[in-house]
Amino acid sequence: MRLKVVTSDGMANMGFLGMFDHGSSVMGLKLTFAILHLLALAIGIAAVYARWRGLRKLTRIEGLSEVFHADNWYGAAALIWIGTGLMRAFGSLEKGTEYYLENHWFLGKMGLFGLVLLLELWPMVNLIQWRMALRKGRPVQLDRAPTMALLTGLQIPLLLVMVCMAAAMARGL
Ligand code: HEM
Repeated sequence: MRLKVVTSDGMANMGFLGMFDHGSSVMGLKLTFAILHLLALAIGIAAVYARWRGLRKLTRIEGLSEVFHADNWYGAAALIWIGTGLMRAFGSLEKGTEYYLENHWFLGKMGLFGLVLLLELWPMVNLIQWRMALRKGRPVQLDRAPTMALLTGLQIPLLLVMVCMAAAMARGL
């Protein structure tokens, strides 16, 4: 159900934005979410690259802290990406839900994002297992590192193509 809010000067705002005065506060909110979305891009790309490099050369347990560090940042970027992205797409912050659901670039971008999530499943589960093993003093299965590096590295070109698709979708192509 969408909420219709009529403000004192007779202006009608729909949905999430109905909670805010129109004008500068909405613009501030849009700008904040746009900046956070792009900051997540900078952090996410740097972090996934660092994790890929860390996993590729991982032969000793001492190298794990570098991998975990990069993984923490990648996780934080993913949360910001998803949170701000969903708000921008479906929270009436930008062009509205209908626009995005009918835009091929947006659907393509979401398809690639789904692929990135699929590629991330196995590395994510293993990294959690490694963290738990380390904490409990159990052996860590480092022989999985090359496959995890491959699955991490494959995400990078997909994320870069997503950036191109995002630029096309934002410009109404
Ligand atoms: C659930 C995930 C995501 C959703 C729902 C989402 C949604 C959106 C929306 C609605 C916009 C605003 C477009 C406009 O101005 O009309 C946007 C912009 C953008 N997104 Fe995402 N996004 C997500 C994840 C990502 C990821 C993972 C990346 C990077 C790989 C990314 C890169 C960008 C970029 C670069 C822009 C700015 C485009 C421009 O203004 O030129 N997004 N996204």
